[in-house]
Amino acid sequence: MHRNLVAPLLGISSFGAAHTLRQRSAAGCGQSPTATLGELSKFNTTAGREYGVWLPDDYDQTAATPLIVSYHGADGTIDSQAALDKLTHSEFNTDHIVVYLQGKADDPDEPNHTTWEGAPGNDEDDVGFTSDVLDAMTAGYCIDTSRIYATGKSQGGGFVGRLACDADMSKRIAAFAPVSGAYYIGSIDEKSETKPETVQVPCEAGRADVPIMAFHGGDDTTIAYYGAFRSGSCLPAIPNWIQQWAARDDLDETPANTSISGSDNGVVMSFGDGLVTLVYDGDDIGHDWPSTTENSDNGGTGLAAFNASTMIMAFFREHTLS
Ligand SMILES: *[C@@H]1O[C@H](CO)[C@@H](O)[C@H](O)[C@H]1NC(C)=O
Ligand SMILES: *[C@@H]1O[C@H](CO)[C@@H](O)[C@H](O)[C@H]1NC(C)=O
Ligand SMILES: *[C@@H]1O[C@H](CO)[C@@H](O)[C@H](O)[C@H]1NC(C)=O
Ligand SMILES: *[C@@H]1O[C@H](CO)[C@@H](O)[C@H](O)[C@H]1NC(C)=O
Repeated sequence: MHRNLVAPLLGISSFGAAHTLRQRSAAGCGQSPTATLGELSKFNTTAGREYGVWLPDDYDQTAATPLIVSYHGADGTIDSQAALDKLTHSEFNTDHIVVYLQGKADDPDEPNHTTWEGAPGNDEDDVGFTSDVLDAMTAGYCIDTSRIYATGKSQGGGFVGRLACDADMSKRIAAFAPVSGAYYIGSIDEKSETKPETVQVPCEAGRADVPIMAFHGGDDTTIAYYGAFRSGSCLPAIPNWIQQWAARDDLDETPANTSISGSDNGVVMSFGDGLVTLVYDGDDIGHDWPSTTENSDNGGTGLAAFNASTMIMAFFREHTLS
């Protein structure tokens, strides 16, 4: 706010000035890219974890480029998530690098049951994996390190919430957009005093203005909007979860509501001019990546009145790390 008021007096564009100051020259600037432009290329970290890298068609190795990290849901893969979020499609994104991380299957008897740290039964260090991938990306590509973003579906969305609450990752990632997130909170007995409506989310965010845009459907029968006990853990009610973000970011607790056009009762709840936003997809939307066209999620439960990926890209564009 203040910067916008003062910058014109100095005769400079606040956007341009901020951009110049903030752009950190990543070590990878100037290097020929290892990944193929416009295709999803797969790599392993030195610790043997797999990830896919998509570079825009006109990626320029001398221009600092923003990057999105995207996480699949339980049982998902790099490819299934790319098919779901469509962030490698020109309709949604032409100028951000997108990196898809592959979750691990811990049980050798269920090789396709891939999960993320924080989900019941997972004991991987996926925060460390994310950090390794960001290190590899900034070493090998020209990344604008002030514009690194995270999104994900279901358990992947829950993990995005975890990154936002991590002391270091919350300072490395500029904005977070979980979709139908499964925000598992430890191992909690259903018979305990804990309730999804009031359970406290453990959080060590390293800054006080973390941008969050979460999506959730009213007809989500996998990760219920009003919370639940599941797999020996507690899933917070989504209104409770988002209120805690508004409080952490020191925002007014009452959101400004805007109805979603074309939807019967979808509502965008905006705290602090959208720094924290909950998109209630609508009563009839299930455990989905909201889309107006059919995708691998919504075939059985109906189409949304909007594309989540469009809103996510607009939200990311509004946020840069200072
Ligand atoms: C990554 O490592 C796994 C397991 O070692 C292997 O199956 C996979 O093919 C590797 N991927 C790449 C792109 O090298
Ligand atoms: C795991 O997924 C692969 C690829 O879709 C499939 O070929 C394989 O049969 C699956 N394995 C099990 C145990 O379901
Ligand atoms: C905003 O919308 C939510 C969901 O419909 C509702 O619970 C809440 O009361 C609304 N808040 C205001 C201030 O209208
Ligand atoms: C949503 O995205 C699909 C492509 O995935 C596109 O066909 C459709 O027109 C988009 N809907 C809106 C409202 O933009």
